[in-house]
Amino acid sequence: MSETDPVKLMKQEVGRAAAAQVKSGSIVGLGTGSTTAYAIQFIGDRIQSGELEDIQGIPTSFQASVLAKKHGIPLTTLDEVSRIDIAIDGADEVDPQKNLIKGGGAAHTREKVVDSLADHFIVVVDSSKLVDRLGSTFALPVEVLPMAIAPVTRALEALGGKVELRMGVKKDGPVITDQGNMVLDVTLEGIDQPAELEKTLNNIPGVLDNGLFIGVADEVLIGEVKDGQATVRTM
Ligand code: 5RP
Repeated sequence: MSETDPVKLMKQEVGRAAAAQVKSGSIVGLGTGSTTAYAIQFIGDRIQSGELEDIQGIPTSFQASVLAKKHGIPLTTLDEVSRIDIAIDGADEVDPQKNLIKGGGAAHTREKVVDSLADHFIVVVDSSKLVDRLGSTFALPVEVLPMAIAPVTRALEALGGKVELRMGVKKDGPVITDQGNMVLDVTLEGIDQPAELEKTLNNIPGVLDNGLFIGVADEVLIGEVKDGQATVRTM
């Protein structure tokens, strides 16, 4: 990918804008994905330059934990702290009400724990993630206990979904989450009542959590490229 790749430029700038909002003394939820990776890098840069002090990160995945260590961000856990000041995380779809579909990186269960606890949750996306209706471009990820894959698949099909077990890339067999579970991707072709669906899905025995984030985001930063120039706007 070249430096002028527009998607990379959008992700970089939106990551930089989110990282700029972190204040010294904060406990920071560190999201997962290629856009958040830039935010983690820029938070690390601010720590290394002395601009940010006394930061503790709470990673939402193995990936976030590895990146935080690489960029010199000290980590803590939810056993050690009772609150999170700010969380920064990506999304796969964002609707006009700031509701999200997440889980493209199979990390949505831990992401929902961390992002929901934050006083201020910032979503970082490029403009391709904006949709009028959730579920119109991206299949909804559902994390499932391996022994419950068959009954949960049947329950999701009964709700009208087309269900696919997420398979690994450069790994034979299914994707295994950081918690040792599997992911079912459910195509619904548009979700009319996302808040109800989030609860319905989580009531199916064997489901850990699904990728609907309803009423969780406080701020959405959108990266755009115009005339080769990356800009960031707030939804
Ligand atoms: C991981 C996620 C990611 O935040 C989401 O998939 C967006 O990733 P990217 O910034 O790489 O497009 O939910 O589970």
